[in-house]
Amino acid sequence: MNKESKNIPDHVGIIMDGNGRWATKRGLSRSLGHLEGSKTLEKTGIHILKKGVKILSVFAFSTENFKRSEEEVTYLMNLFIDMFTKKCKEFKKNNVKVIFSGRKSPLRSDVLDAMDKLVEDTKNNTKGILNICLNYGGQEELIDASKKIAIDYQNGKLDLDTLNKESFAKYLYNDLPPIDLLIRTSGEYRISNFMLYQMAYSEMTFPDTLFPDFTPKEFDIALEEYQKRNRRFGGV
Ligand code: IPE
Ligand code: IPE
Ligand code: MG
Repeated sequence: MNKESKNIPDHVGIIMDGNGRWATKRGLSRSLGHLEGSKTLEKTGIHILKKGVKILSVFAFSTENFKRSEEEVTYLMNLFIDMFTKKCKEFKKNNVKVIFSGRKSPLRSDVLDAMDKLVEDTKNNTKGILNICLNYGGQEELIDASKKIAIDYQNGKLDLDTLNKESFAKYLYNDLPPIDLLIRTSGEYRISNFMLYQMAYSEMTFPDTLFPDFTPKEFDIALEEYQKRNRRFGGV
């Protein structure tokens, strides 16, 4: 095994941005950009997990995305149902466990049912985890964790002196290791409320590619860049 293939990040995050611009550039509706983006996720997601990445967290829909037109939000929700019931076959076939991060409310019950079914169908899979952040906000995750902590404290289930980085993480939507590599497509240089707690020391790359055009090859380029970085975590 060469040096490159050993230094694989355990946890990769992708802010899948640029679907709307991809479609608009082609004179298509934004919705068709989302459809194309969903195909990209399937192709590149499998590739990334096959590379040895243990957890892939993807930003599918932010709490703020509810500000979009009703037409776009409805299209996205229906696309999620379609993906979770049919198109996630590839993830199932490849032994990938699917989990979700985010708030349930105000998601539609048919969306929640499709999410629950996919989680149930893949819960015993062992070749990597796909964490889909849907109706997800990083600040919301910290607020929700703080509320759970307050309740446990009130009920005498938590000794505040024991609270540390590891035990705090157990109150998040999912207890996941830190994100090692974060990729945001579409040339925007911001985090947009993605996994704030998990990204404290992430390496980041910002390819210009719009998400529907993102390919396994482009992931490999980001990975190579990651492998060249000198992670210091505050040390020297
Ligand atoms: C990302 O693509 C997908 C979602 C936010 C659901 P966008 O829809 O944000 O695409 P742009 O940024 O408008 O091009
Ligand atoms: C972030 O993209 C959310 C997702 C990719 C799901 P946005 O397009 O919503 O972010 P901003 O508005 O450009 O910051
Ligand atoms: Mg965007």
